[in-house]
Amino acid sequence: MKKIVILISGRGSNMQALLETTLPCQIAAVISNRADATGLGIARAHGVPTAVVAHLDYPDRGNFDTALAQTIDAFNPDYVVLAGFMRILGAGFVARYRGRLLNIHPSLLPSYGGLNTHARALHDGVKIHGCTVHFVTPDLDHGPIIIQAAVPVLRDDTEQTLAARVLHEEHRIYPQAIRWLCKDQIELDEQDKVLFRYRKQSSFALISPGLE
Ligand code: GAR
Repeated sequence: MKKIVILISGRGSNMQALLETTLPCQIAAVISNRADATGLGIARAHGVPTAVVAHLDYPDRGNFDTALAQTIDAFNPDYVVLAGFMRILGAGFVARYRGRLLNIHPSLLPSYGGLNTHARALHDGVKIHGCTVHFVTPDLDHGPIIIQAAVPVLRDDTEQTLAARVLHEEHRIYPQAIRWLCKDQIELDEQDKVLFRYRKQSSFALISPGLE
């Protein structure tokens, strides 16, 4: 069975969604760059080994990335899953895990990379927002897209209500992406394109605020 390692920095709700669904792979470990990440306790409660590689313990990104890679590789994973891991990873680290490193981001990339995605979407008045699972490349919050979920932005939305609507979908699309990956139904090809080996597609349109 394939193995994944999940990297977190905080709450760990995406990690929890992965722990609490059926996946065709083993979650070998959860690693955090912060010892106080709440998600670590959730992982332990599920009996998953945890480790901390605290970025503050290292003089620079290169040293941190090396220590992180050593910790990850000790679990011998097929895939490395970033789930709210809030450190920028260097090009060497990204290259080491090419095609094996996934991220989830709370926007419809390539719109709204970076932080405060929901506030920025509300500020711009977009009517459709969402989340993206993608392979990681050296560009922050960009990279070949595996799956996206779109949600409507409602008239009375606050940053919190919009974030909750998006997060609900994050918890659905991340397990799906990992199932495809672990069943060899997708891969990153030599041209950095996602190769899909399954056929199912949806032609459903999300129209927001909706037609009368
Ligand atoms: C999630 O919304 C995730 O998409 C986002 O951090 C949150 C982590 O929540 N990731 C990024 O912004 C990456 N650039 P969680 O710890 O509850 O999964």
